[in-house]
Amino acid sequence: MKSIAVIGLGQMGSTLAQLLLDAGFEVHVWNRSPGKATALVEASARLAASPADAAARAQFVVMCVHDHAAAMEILSQQGVWHALEGKALLQFTTFSPQEAAAASEVARAHGVAYLSGAIQVAPEQMGKPDTTILLSGPRNAVDGANAVLATFGGNVAWLGESASAAPTMDLATLSFVYGATAGFLQGAALAQREGLDLKRYGEIVHAMSPSFGEFLQHEAKVIDSGDFAISQSPLSISVDATRRIDGAMREAGLDDALPAVIAQLLERAVAKGLAGEELAALVKVIDATS
Ligand SMILES: NC(=O)c1ccc[n+]([C@@H]2O[C@H](COP(=O)([O-])OP(=O)(O)OC[C@H]3O[C@@H](n4cnc5c(N)ncnc54)[C@H](OP(=O)(O)O)[C@@H]3O)[C@@H](O)[C@H]2O)c1
Repeated sequence: MKSIAVIGLGQMGSTLAQLLLDAGFEVHVWNRSPGKATALVEASARLAASPADAAARAQFVVMCVHDHAAAMEILSQQGVWHALEGKALLQFTTFSPQEAAAASEVARAHGVAYLSGAIQVAPEQMGKPDTTILLSGPRNAVDGANAVLATFGGNVAWLGESASAAPTMDLATLSFVYGATAGFLQGAALAQREGLDLKRYGEIVHAMSPSFGEFLQHEAKVIDSGDFAISQSPLSISVDATRRIDGAMREAGLDDALPAVIAQLLERAVAKGLAGEELAALVKVIDATS
């Protein structure tokens, strides 16, 4: 596979196109505002006249525009699906799981192999050996595009055939990121109120992060196995800990919305009879069907 089309040359799309050029691919580019293609064309990219023209010229097509509405607007233009027929489309525009599933169905109806991609880093972190690309869609299309995918990141995580898998994993990992960040900032406010050195706080959290990651990996295995017998951390310990955090936040005059909601979740777990189980049993409150 030598010729690749990149549709959408914003911050991320132009980085993808540049990485492909650097890797020696023949790159055809299109952007709604043509000015954004200038630097890439100077670097030997070939400017397509329309999205359909870009798709027709290439063996593999990458799309990266603002959102689902913009992507579908482009795909519904005259001749685009026809030009994509028999090829693979890698959608890097951020879609919801439902949007990805629906787009994949439309693609399938047009004879296009649809790959859902999710990018979790900023443009300058793309193309590095440890850059993770979340991907789902037909395995044979992934295998056929190994060289292209390796250009975008050294850690391509294929999550199965379902188009919704990559955006779902994106949201699952972001749920962890935002939950942990909010908790970190809450701790920062508490430490600051006490006059503690916040640089030390950051260092201590950094030092405990690898073992915390291992703990979370263990909890995921517990949920997967369905065996919630205590193996590392009893849920009851966390009930007391979150009550203490909530109390300390209130006493310090800080907003306690986050610790209060965590404490309430854990109390609901206790009311459900889960106090004597592993902390991971909290998932049974979050998902009442589990
Ligand atoms: N940048 C990041 O750090 C990052 C990280 C992870 C994921 N992503 C995802 O990557 C995608 C692109 O992000 P970006 O940072 O490259 O955004 P961006 O710099 O704002 O670029 C947006 C792109 O979408 C195009 N576009 C918007 N509406 C359009 C429409 N109706 N028809 C045709 N083209 C349209 C823009 O074209 P014009 O130039 O004509 O306006 C531009 O090429 C997003 O879905 C984003 O969530 C970005």
